[in-house]
This record gives sequence, structure tokens and C-alpha cells, in this order.
Amino acid sequence: MPTNTLVEKLMEDRQLPDEQQRRLIMESQVLVPQCIPEWGYGFYQHQFHRDISIAYNKLSDDLISRLKEHALSHRDVDFRHLLAGQIAEEYETPFDDAPELKKELTEFLSTQVQNFLGNPPSKDFDWFGWTNIVKPGEFNPVHAHTDCILSFILYLDIPEVIREEYRKPLTTLPSKGLIKFYSSYNSDDMTFNPKTGDFFLFTSNHRHSVGAFYSEGVERISFAGNITKL
Ligand SMILES: [Fe+2]
Repeated sequence: MPTNTLVEKLMEDRQLPDEQQRRLIMESQVLVPQCIPEWGYGFYQHQFHRDISIAYNKLSDDLISRLKEHALSHRDVDFRHLLAGQIAEEYETPFDDAPELKKELTEFLSTQVQNFLGNPPSKDFDWFGWTNIVKPGEFNPVHAHTDCILSFILYLDIPEVIREEYRKPLTTLPSKGLIKFYSSYNSDDMTFNPKTGDFFLFTSNHRHSVGAFYSEGVERISFAGNITKL
């Protein structure tokens, strides 16, 4: 039975969904991002195509692991005064001591910007980033990024136990551990359940939020950034 028909029937019968039905309903509300083989990246757009979209890609395991090690060894500059997250550990991530890593990331970002906009960035291309070490109960309220053009998020480590949580919401809306991008024109949102290695690029004014997870003893590590010069 298609999911919308299933929901209608459950509402008509005033029934709570059973475990399998609930799983179907939750999964139908979450996009699974995929790279398009011919392009090497994915592209997501709100209904009616009136909103600026999101580009998706994956970073190699090797680069993710080096970036994670670098990010976790630079926890001295608190970055929360510039951020929206209700997150205790958010640090600026400098690359002065890792020029090669910065170069690799800049090359990756340049390619993604070209995918997204259709043109390569100029030689003045510039960006900065920070690391979020997110613990149970912490979250990012709806926000946009300011004083920049494009923004990105790269997931360095998301334990699977966090990725499973959204299937058991307290009520009807899947939110735990998910990232949602909101349309500026209607009530549409695009919801993703990110995994380690995922990369999303979006226009900085595209509002988004991240729901809390509650599994004890784990944390989610992400690296986010703003592109300030194209
Ligand atoms: Fe953000």
C-alpha cells in the first residue's frame, strides 16, 4: 500500500501504526541522497523548483579520516559566539599547520561549487570552517548563515545508533538526528539522514535545522563552513 494511502487509512480508523507501518511512514519522509553516475554528484530541489537547491556529494574515507583527526586536535578556539547551535563544543578549525589538507579541501570545494553553479570559482575563492562535536540532547535551531555566499556541511563521524533514532519519534514527525532544509515559498522541507562522509552544499540563506539525538555515550562530529569569496 502506498504510504499516503496507508496514513489516510490509519487516520480514518484512528489507529496508531504498528512497528512496520511506522517504519514505512518514517522512511517515506526522509530523502536518501545519491550521486548521479554521469555527474558524480546529486542535486535536490524543493517542490515547484522555486527554491535554490542543494548539491550532495561524498568525501573519500581517507580525506574524512584525516580531516577528523585534524579537527579533533584543534579544540582551542571556541566558535560559539558566531553560531546558532545549542551545542557546547563548537571550535574554529584553522589550517595554518596543515596547508596540504587545506589545499585538498579547497580543490574538493571548488569542484562542488562548479557542480552547483555551473562555473568554477575565481582565484580569490575563500572559505573557513568549524567543527561541531554534538552530544545527546544538543541541536541546531532553524537558522541561515550570514556574511557569506554558499555554505557546506561535511559529516566526519555519525554512529549508526544515531541514524536509527528517527524511526521512533515521540509523535508523528521524524526529527531526531535529521537535517531539514526549509522552502522559502511553501511548507515543503527536504529532510536527510546524513551518514559519515556525506557532503551538502547550499546557498547560505537556505534555512535549515538539525534535530537532537538521545542515544547516550555517542557523539556526532561534523565540519561546517562558509564560502566567503567566489
Ligand atoms: Fe547551519
